[in-house]
Amino acid sequence: MERLNIGIILGSTRQGRLSPQVGNWVKAIADKRGDANYEIVDIADYKLPFLGEGTGKEPGLIAWSEKLSSLDGFVFIVQEYNHSITGALKNALDSARGEWNNKAAGIVSYGSTGGARAAEHLRGILGELLVATVRAHPTLSIFTDFTNSKVFNPADFHTDYITTMLDETLLWSNALKTVRTS
Ligand SMILES: Cc1cc2nc3c(=O)[nH]c(=O)nc-3n(C[C@H](O)[C@H](O)[C@H](O)COP(=O)(O)O)c2cc1C
Repeated sequence: MERLNIGIILGSTRQGRLSPQVGNWVKAIADKRGDANYEIVDIADYKLPFLGEGTGKEPGLIAWSEKLSSLDGFVFIVQEYNHSITGALKNALDSARGEWNNKAAGIVSYGSTGGARAAEHLRGILGELLVATVRAHPTLSIFTDFTNSKVFNPADFHTDYITTMLDETLLWSNALKTVRTS
């Protein structure tokens, strides 16, 4: 299998967010595999304007497009806000189109019910963007996988399922690369 570039996208941008802890944990598991280039992609770094409110030429917007273009697949770190994804992630998704197409993604979510409702919303959005989401979906509980809902302390059993999610994401990312290059 050709070495793929996989972006681990942090879905939240608020001050005090937990997503970097979760993203870094996923990246550490992924890096140990040594089978792809994994990188954290932090939406907050891009300072994306709300869609249609800027000039369309903001450096962050151009950098966002270039970053997505360089990636073969994604792992979304998703947190549940009002039963859905964050506004920041939705805006980041809306702020590109072709750059997402014909790629694969895994989802790791967290919240009071493991972020499941947000993750299912995300699957629908990604379908419209021609991103194929894999079946394996690790769900983390804000009550039991975080101490005091703040410090990430995941149960051991999650690691195996992260591995399954990565296996599936790599398999489909590789398959869809052939679609993009044919
Ligand atoms: C605006 C807002 C709405 C939220 N709504 C939900 C919700 O509907 N369901 C849920 O399980 N958690 C909800 N939460 C709790 C978040 O899942 C939790 O705070 C989580 O840490 C947010 O991710 P972050 O720390 O990366 O920003 C909400 C949090 C915020 C800030």
